[in-house]
Amino acid sequence: MAAEAAFLPAAASQETALGRRVFAYGRGATLVDVDGRAYVDLAAGTMTQSLGHGHPAVVRAVTEQAARLVNVHDNPTPVRLDAARALARLLPAHLGSLGFFTTGAEVVEAALRAAHAAAEPGRTRIAALRRGFHGKTRGVRALVQWDVGTEPPAPSLLGYPAYCYRCPFDATYPSCDLLCARLTVRQAVARPDVAALLAEPVQGAAGVIVPPPGYWEIVGRACAEHGVLLIADEVLTGGGRTGEFLAAQRYGLTPDLVTLAKGIGSGHPVAVLAGTPEVLDERTWQAAGGHGSTFGGHPVGLAAAASTLTVLHRDDLLARVRDLAAVLADALGELAEHPAVGEVRGLGLLWGVELVADRATKAPDPAAADRVFRRALDLGVRVMPGGQTLRIAPPFVLEPDELADAIRRLGRAIDDVHQGRA
Ligand SMILES: Cc1ncc(COP(=O)(O)O)c(C=O)c1O
Repeated sequence: MAAEAAFLPAAASQETALGRRVFAYGRGATLVDVDGRAYVDLAAGTMTQSLGHGHPAVVRAVTEQAARLVNVHDNPTPVRLDAARALARLLPAHLGSLGFFTTGAEVVEAALRAAHAAAEPGRTRIAALRRGFHGKTRGVRALVQWDVGTEPPAPSLLGYPAYCYRCPFDATYPSCDLLCARLTVRQAVARPDVAALLAEPVQGAAGVIVPPPGYWEIVGRACAEHGVLLIADEVLTGGGRTGEFLAAQRYGLTPDLVTLAKGIGSGHPVAVLAGTPEVLDERTWQAAGGHGSTFGGHPVGLAAAASTLTVLHRDDLLARVRDLAAVLADALGELAEHPAVGEVRGLGLLWGVELVADRATKAPDPAAADRVFRRALDLGVRVMPGGQTLRIAPPFVLEPDELADAIRRLGRAIDDVHQGRA
């Protein structure tokens, strides 16, 4: 790490600086560092390794594709058709049109271009939700208040996510009558100048904000009624993480456009924009300036997607996510009463443990979360840090007892930090 710092002085991410681990390889749900220590990877790479690290079918597919053909720009290839077919098997039928990209931010930008191109004249604005995260490119960052530390948020049209634990209106569900959803409709959706609402059905980077029943019914219905396209950003949730292929399906939502990336390619750079044929047709793509790029629809990424999605379907991993979700919910439930834990929330295999300095005042404790992250690594467990909420998003292939044991170790890490032992 010291040698690398000479070349990458500015590259120390929070995770690098806190974790101080140099990983050598990964197999299944296990990561091994250069000193030979093993870790249960409850962050699944960066929520990418749904099939675990080094799944043999994916390794074989990308290796064979790399030997066969690596880049032929935006031309049809057999692997592109394989990927399209594998996606069509898993996506809701109304999302019949696809475009292939490389990264999450890139595909969200493409969704915005397509929405603008499809919108009626006069509908020029894009609405989004406070605390949403959609990537670090300028276009998407201009939409949301997600301070990545270098720029003030730009003014934009923002609705309210259902962050019930820290309700900005000091209300309580369900007596709040979903004020957050109603204000989102009034302030961001029911307007003649809005083309689309871009939103994560479950906000991930914000700390796993899971809306209660009713929220998406109200907001989704309003989008349809007011002619506002709904773009579900499922870069993080898509691909089965919530127990359905799309989180939108858990909420009965029928988005016009969906972005996918992390969950579909086992960690390879591949992203997909899926849309209704009415929105994503030849005309909108042309009006949006097309969607080709140097690496967009990269054959090796497509091979990763085709093989990942084939295994997901063949091994019925969505059912496995639902089974493991019960194990995870149970294990995390035991942590919920700990004095350092403000709230435990999640669904499927996507959970957040929010740490507080005081359960009564709910004062956020990001410093404690950092220490727990580091202590958990010492105990052989990797979670995802980010503010005061530790995120847990394990591979779908973990064994139930391995998962329960890893959460017990996380509980020990929380207690060690709380008692001043770490
Ligand atoms: C919901 C969502 N959208 C977009 C992105 C951006 O993806 P990328 O980091 O590949 O640009 C992320 C990344 O975490 C995300 O969680």
